[in-house]
Amino acid sequence: MPFQAKHDFLVESSHDELSRQNYVQRLRMHILNQIGGGMRAVYDKRVKPQFEKSQGRAPKDEYEVHVAMLSDNYGQVWSTMMRSCQEMVWDSVIPAVERAQPKLNERIRGLNARYGTLTLDPSVKVPRYVSATDIHLMPGNYHTERTADDASQGALYDRGRFVYNGGAAGPYADAIPRTIATYIRRKWPDFKPAQALELGCTIGSSTIPFVDGFPECEVHAADVAAPVVRYGHARAEALGKRVHFHQMNAESLKFADGTFDLVYSIIMFHETSTKAYRNILKECHRVLRPGGLMIHMELPPVGDMDPFEAFYLDWDAYYNNEPYYLKYTHEDIRACVTNAGFGNDKFFQVLIPDLARSPQAFEAVVGGEVIKKTQVARVGESAKWFTYGAWK
Ligand SMILES: C[S@@+](CC[C@H](N)C(=O)[O-])C[C@H]1O[C@@H](n2cnc3c(N)ncnc32)[C@H](O)[C@@H]1O
Repeated sequence: MPFQAKHDFLVESSHDELSRQNYVQRLRMHILNQIGGGMRAVYDKRVKPQFEKSQGRAPKDEYEVHVAMLSDNYGQVWSTMMRSCQEMVWDSVIPAVERAQPKLNERIRGLNARYGTLTLDPSVKVPRYVSATDIHLMPGNYHTERTADDASQGALYDRGRFVYNGGAAGPYADAIPRTIATYIRRKWPDFKPAQALELGCTIGSSTIPFVDGFPECEVHAADVAAPVVRYGHARAEALGKRVHFHQMNAESLKFADGTFDLVYSIIMFHETSTKAYRNILKECHRVLRPGGLMIHMELPPVGDMDPFEAFYLDWDAYYNNEPYYLKYTHEDIRACVTNAGFGNDKFFQVLIPDLARSPQAFEAVVGGEVIKKTQVARVGESAKWFTYGAWK
């Protein structure tokens, strides 16, 4: 089984719990690869021809494909298994987290930080788009505190996300940020950020690759949810990494104009509202220094996909408690970025192959090769990361 790197705050699972987690991990990979892998053929060979026969035309958009695919037995089984397995991911980890909670919180409260800092701000109001839903079915989401100084949602995310990824993102579950940090370094070797900020850092697993990638840089990480930054701070200290965590709303950052050379996020925006997306982009522009870089890895836009691909990608919006996902994948991101103040000629977007899984393809893209086709995949499944941004 893929191995998750240990650190002092990772919760201990019992033998039986581990065995259940391993089972869920394999089941999920089976559903994604074997069952999910058959969805396209079912569409092309059965669902689409049947639709054409009854309607006299092909499905015109992802919404018609959605209804047609989920009227088919195969699509129903795939969708049901996806949903059930997602619930099983969290169920397999919760007992270990509940058992660990009191001691874990006590240890984190008493932590003597040697490297970075943690700044909590109780006045930060968790926005409705975070507080109203258990996003991707994670009970309690990122923000819930069941007791004073609770960090257990961070612990749940740490272990649960590893089970969800089936270990495909490496022992620290950081394949994406490691790929993006390396891409920046390799693509723009003269760019030497002195201060960087990650937005929506959760437990900092997407922050540490930037600490490693830019050792001269002071790296800050912000998230609106206190439990995850508490846990992230403890995790970073345990791993000996210098990160400055902040509980902060990315829509209204407490940093002065022009503070950072680099502002980035990893799979954050699809969990924010349409209004918040625009506000956050404006904040990115404001806190960047002239000449600074804003870069975001996110779900690819569905605009250039065929209706089946768009349906497959957008499934989570309907069945995985991702209410903003659909709106996000339909955004005109170039327009949003330029409306936030960035020049149209400063905008870029690129599909970056995963550094660990496809090193040669990664090198080719660093060297200028352009991958045009957006791969149909959800996070955890894809090996090419859709990334965009702009220079200020
Ligand atoms: C999918 S997670 C990000 C995952 C993380 N970057 C990683 O790679 O592990 C989205 C995160 O964004 C945070 N978030 C959502 N809206 C936010 C906002 N307005 N300001 C700051 N953080 C926000 C959530 O609390 C959550 O931790």
